[in-house]
Amino acid sequence: MGETRRLLILYGSQTGTAQDTAERLAREARRRLFSVKVASLNDYPVGELIKEKMVVFVCATTGQGDPPDNMQTFWRFILRKNLPGNSLANLHYAVLGLGDSSYPKFNFVAKKLHKRLEQLGAMAVMKVGLSDEQHDLGQDAVIDPWSSDLWEHLLKLSPLPLGKDVIRADVRPPPRYRVIFSGDTVNHVHSLRPLSGDEKPSQERPFLAPLLANDRVTAPDHFQDVRLVRLNIRGSNIQYTPGDVAMIQPQNIEERVNQFLTHMGLDGSQTFHLQQNDPDVTVPSVLTKPVTVEEVVRCYFDISSVPRRSFFEILSHFSEDELEREKLQEFCTPEGQDDLFSYCNRVRRTILEVMADFHQTSKRVPFEYLFDLIPQMQPRAFSIASSPQAHPQEVQLLMAVVRYRTKLHTPRQGVCSTWLSTLTPDPDCKVPLWVKPGTITFPKDPTLPVVMVGPGTGVAPFRSYIHEKAVNGYGGNYLFFGCRGEKADFYCREEWETLVQKQLLTLYTAFSRDQEDKIYVQDRIKENGALIWKLLNKESAYFYIAGNAKRMPDDVRAIMKKLVEEHGGKSEEEAEAYLQSLERNRRWQVEAWS
Ligand code: 2AM
Repeated sequence: MGETRRLLILYGSQTGTAQDTAERLAREARRRLFSVKVASLNDYPVGELIKEKMVVFVCATTGQGDPPDNMQTFWRFILRKNLPGNSLANLHYAVLGLGDSSYPKFNFVAKKLHKRLEQLGAMAVMKVGLSDEQHDLGQDAVIDPWSSDLWEHLLKLSPLPLGKDVIRADVRPPPRYRVIFSGDTVNHVHSLRPLSGDEKPSQERPFLAPLLANDRVTAPDHFQDVRLVRLNIRGSNIQYTPGDVAMIQPQNIEERVNQFLTHMGLDGSQTFHLQQNDPDVTVPSVLTKPVTVEEVVRCYFDISSVPRRSFFEILSHFSEDELEREKLQEFCTPEGQDDLFSYCNRVRRTILEVMADFHQTSKRVPFEYLFDLIPQMQPRAFSIASSPQAHPQEVQLLMAVVRYRTKLHTPRQGVCSTWLSTLTPDPDCKVPLWVKPGTITFPKDPTLPVVMVGPGTGVAPFRSYIHEKAVNGYGGNYLFFGCRGEKADFYCREEWETLVQKQLLTLYTAFSRDQEDKIYVQDRIKENGALIWKLLNKESAYFYIAGNAKRMPDDVRAIMKKLVEEHGGKSEEEAEAYLQSLERNRRWQVEAWS
């Protein structure tokens, strides 16, 4: 095979979808006899890019048009102004973006990367692919046609060796890793090497924070269980500021782990480690040392996630049952996507449930293939709710325990919040944790007034900031808090009341369901329009919105626009321009999650 048949696939992935897509493309490329290497953009030595001939980039866009964590180093490098204009003149590339059109900067990272590579002299083999989470059939609706074009282009650039053909889709590819069972000393997935010296905890090496408390803060009969989780960070080198985010590496609850082990007929106590099975695929470092099967099922396999299409592709290779095989194969065809979407995504069916449905096939999957089949557990982000000064040596979270119903009989449960909610405070009960900057930053000058709109757990970053200022005697905080009822879920009430008494906080509450007609935070904003306008216009106030209600940030913005029109005597266009100028100057910031 000539050197030109090397294909590099690089990804920037936040939730794992871009990584899964990159790996799926790699399997497709191997069927076309390319020698393929897949890596995250940060893991790839970016200086080597000048030597590459063909690279496919798969990049997600997160939040406000930001690159995922595992491509930030690459991103800073590639955007450097001093890179010579033709440095990538030998490179053919294609960019596939994974985005969500409900956010304003749709696929910003992919579009910008595409332009930047062009500037550096690289040659695009095709148009940038812009897949969209909002599409009725999910991201695959764009990825499928994009990737079939990709193979057409790449095979033109680098044809199959003479006399060779594309390997058929139903031929089982080899597993990525080899499993070596051994009885050696056992390690733990999250503590292979203890943190040393002044090293900051990271995804590679989280801090194992002892759980101090896990208290329900909503009424016992309220539909939603919200917890104030307190984690001890003494000795961790973690430093954070209000607005920062705690990353938690979750685990599967025992019941699910046992279901999986039983279904697969696995002995959880066996120890094993992984070895390379393909020179281009490196073994994840946490699995290079012996660990137990149980530990890996608990900490590494995301068995409660909704399976992606690649799951069905791989599973179908093990089917001997005709009915199951036909269905699995159909799910992998373009015509089967509607069915697959209804079966999995719409009702949020989990991998564990699908494995039970396809019982005959899934129990035949050899252990080593589980690493191809099941995605790796991803960390979850929570806005930190504590203040470094008011709650020294702690990171606190205000966390709603995610539980909801779909058409399926069993309620859906969030992996991370369910796991945390089952933990009992104990010095031995440890939560893998690290912190990273959030999307919002508070003003450096503590004397500036700050208006904060945080219904529900959206109040978390504001709790951090308000307490931080209060320690130093600063007020000027205007908080709009919304919840369903004064008795049901008005959490942190005593804290707020103490701060109000000390004149360090002005609090407006909107209890949506304590009366016949709904009252929301934006109704309270409207009632206090004159004050808010004065704060913004005369006192250089900052304005923040945080929360998980999908429509809330837009609704609040709409009310604010009206308020600027009314109290500022502006036309609609002028009011819009006013809000945009606040956004540009970072005096208007939003942190929204769903
Ligand atoms: P609801 O559930 O009664 O509709 C925290 O979740 C609070 O935010 C709840 O009181 C919830 O009210 C409210 N909420 C829901 N949608 C909202 C929206 N679009 N704007 C403002 N508040 C909203």
